[in-house]
Amino acid sequence: GPEVAQLVASRLLDVPDFPKPGVVFKDLMPLFADGVAFRAVIDGIIAYHGRDSFDTVAGIEARGFVLAAAVAYATGVGVVPVRKAGKLPRATHSASYALEYGEATLEVHQDAFTAGHRVLVLDDVLATGGTAEATLDLVERAGGTVAGFTVLLELGFLAGRQRLAQRPVHALLTV
Ligand code: PRP
Ligand code: HPA
Repeated sequence: GPEVAQLVASRLLDVPDFPKPGVVFKDLMPLFADGVAFRAVIDGIIAYHGRDSFDTVAGIEARGFVLAAAVAYATGVGVVPVRKAGKLPRATHSASYALEYGEATLEVHQDAFTAGHRVLVLDDVLATGGTAEATLDLVERAGGTVAGFTVLLELGFLAGRQRLAQRPVHALLTV
């Protein structure tokens, strides 16, 4: 609700010219570092979806791992990492997507999900949506069903949500 949105807004720093000139990077590390606020956002994510609405949680490297692990622990489900190319040791599905310059690739283990398991996907920020689009495709290719996709912060001006038009996207705060 509005309290959680306010919490995210109050624990977020604007970093000019990171990672390159002209970009204002939204840094959520102050939120992660505040134990009361971190627990409140994790509880907020679980309350929004309902703890019986998913069977597994997937986290997107790297900050999504932190969120996914906390939600998994709190609800007693398992956690699956969606990783940058070349990090996972066994057979993977991979999905490439365009960045502003060049390309990035994400991977998930082919056996990561029990068939039909409902997967809640978590990340810190939704920007252009390329990362999310690739991840949600990977979850389905690996046999999961996307139960939801939640981020702490959506950068509305980058229109990532449009790119994910057919998907259940939830943001605790949109700027
Ligand atoms: C950031 C963020 C999301 C992604 C969003 O990760 O944590 O995963 O970018 O951008 P998009 O919507 O435009 O695809 P980053 O690539 O910085 O990776 P990191 O967490 O490993 O540093
Ligand atoms: N902050 C964190 N992650 C991001 C951002 C940002 O501003 N833009 C794209 N990914």
